[in-house]
Amino acid sequence: MSKSLNKAQYEREIEKLEAKALKYESKADTLIDNASHLDSTTDTGKERSSMLNSQALEISKKANDTREKIKMLKRQYEERMKGLPLLKIEHVTKVFAPGTVNEKVALEDINLTVNQGDVICIIGSNGSGKSTLFNMISGTFPVTSGTITLAGLDITKQPEYKRAYDIGRVFQDPTKGTSANMSIEDNMMLASKKGMRGVKFSLNKTTRERFKRLLTPIHLEERLKDNVGLLSGGQRQALTLLMTTLSKPHLMLLDEHTAALDPGNAQTVMDLTKEYIERDSLTAMMVTHNMQFAIDYGNRLIMMDKGHIILDISGEEKKNLTVQTLVARFKEIAKTEFTSDEGLLTE
Ligand SMILES: Nc1ncnc2c1ncn2[C@@H]1O[C@H](COP(=O)(O)OP(=O)(O)O)[C@@H](O)[C@H]1O
Ligand SMILES: [Mg+2]
Repeated sequence: MSKSLNKAQYEREIEKLEAKALKYESKADTLIDNASHLDSTTDTGKERSSMLNSQALEISKKANDTREKIKMLKRQYEERMKGLPLLKIEHVTKVFAPGTVNEKVALEDINLTVNQGDVICIIGSNGSGKSTLFNMISGTFPVTSGTITLAGLDITKQPEYKRAYDIGRVFQDPTKGTSANMSIEDNMMLASKKGMRGVKFSLNKTTRERFKRLLTPIHLEERLKDNVGLLSGGQRQALTLLMTTLSKPHLMLLDEHTAALDPGNAQTVMDLTKEYIERDSLTAMMVTHNMQFAIDYGNRLIMMDKGHIILDISGEEKKNLTVQTLVARFKEIAKTEFTSDEGLLTE
């Protein structure tokens, strides 16, 4: 059964079962409690007490069965996740407008394995295929050929909205991740519901308190009822980021998500990004134009060029990188001269 569960569904299922077990347990407790208050000196009292106790036993058994089921589900899920790469991209090619004069090979035979906990910075000049790679992973466009596997499940043909349960994405454009005409709390509510269809969530006091707590670091805790359209670009991007973490995604895709912000806000959103990645042990892929940042942050650096991954550097080798050696290696591999560093060096 757990075979087809994505992370959000799995967590929801566990939550549901735990609530069920608790309900059985408290029912059994009540019955035992009631039985203990009966007068055991009378025959009717004895009879009634033994009846309640045997009912309690029945219900305790159900509680135990539910607890067993939870354990089994957890075991199955952990087994499935163990040692599996989080994301596997195999021979993925994307051709836009095939067979026309506008034919464009945006990705060519891409192979990439992303491990759980990887934080990968992606660099590469404009048009090298970075966003297309993200579009393939999140299912915005279908691949031309190749396969994509997420946490052991082939998602190549899965529609975008289904993948969105497990893949969070933040774009460069701050207006993209939120609905301008809805309040902050309604936006957050929608984000929380992602991947949990059929579950009744209500915007009650507890939920609002939780939202407030989450909004405090980005100073929006007093603005739950304000429309998102009233926020600045930086605030909106911070909110989008916060919202993507609400559904506990397997994977975060960040596509130059600070590039449209002024330096101050860009820094704030980047700090927040690091904080969330750390807090939730997220696996993340982040496109950036800032080479130094890509060298300093994360455990892995990927460089793309003309639809290919031309560099994939991690560990010690990454720690020893400098912008200079990176540019030198790019020139060596891509065999092209920079006309300017603009495409790679500016943020
Ligand atoms: N929807 C599309 N239709 C046609 N061509 C596209 C589309 N999206 C991207 N491309 C082309 O694919 C190539 C890679 O684009 P993209 O992935 O956006 O690059 P990057 O994000 O690295 O700047 C570019 O030549 C671009 O023009
Ligand atoms: Mg792009």
